[in-house]
Amino acid sequence: MALLGQTEVGQLQALEELVQELHHLFSGEKKVNAAQVQTAMESYESNPGDWARYAQFDQFRYTRNLVDKGNEKFNLMILCWGEGHGSSIHDHTDSHCFMKILQGNLKETLFEWPDKKGVGEMQKKSERVLKENQCAYINDTIGLHRVENPSHTETAVSLHLYSPPFESCYTFDQRTGHKQRVKMTFYSQFGERTPYTTSVSQENN
Ligand code: SIN
Repeated sequence: MALLGQTEVGQLQALEELVQELHHLFSGEKKVNAAQVQTAMESYESNPGDWARYAQFDQFRYTRNLVDKGNEKFNLMILCWGEGHGSSIHDHTDSHCFMKILQGNLKETLFEWPDKKGVGEMQKKSERVLKENQCAYINDTIGLHRVENPSHTETAVSLHLYSPPFESCYTFDQRTGHKQRVKMTFYSQFGERTPYTTSVSQENN
């Protein structure tokens, strides 16, 4: 049992219960307690029946599917990773990032920030494979990361919480450390496919 705020939380039984708990954790005036958010995310046991309507895949790249706008304090979204899909090395625009695995495995590779003066290969700090129901945490102080579905036969699904929400981030070229600002978009929102726009999209993948 974990104590979250005034509420005692055991196993969170449904995604809806987790969303409720997250609203509670982000409701105060004070800075959110990242450890409590991570505990809540871990306490939810993934059940595809809860999230299947948000899990919309694309054949060519991973998708971002908005689940909840968190009262403007956070964005909660489901990311769908086809076989071998991955993100670019990126930062988190000074936000907290929590990433829980709902299905399959995801490989997370951490990198140091590139040296402002020099140009060259980016330094890897570590890598690990995250398994179903695990929840990882990163922010810009910890470093940069890339996330990949290492499987060529199985898809993967993850639940991400970003706080505060952000609409763009930097991506980095591993060989040179050069960065580029990219806009983040949603493939679907609240279970409905985002209408197609003709503007050029530069997603993080
Ligand atoms: C990731 O952490 O690799 C996913 C980034 C995103 O939100 O698109």
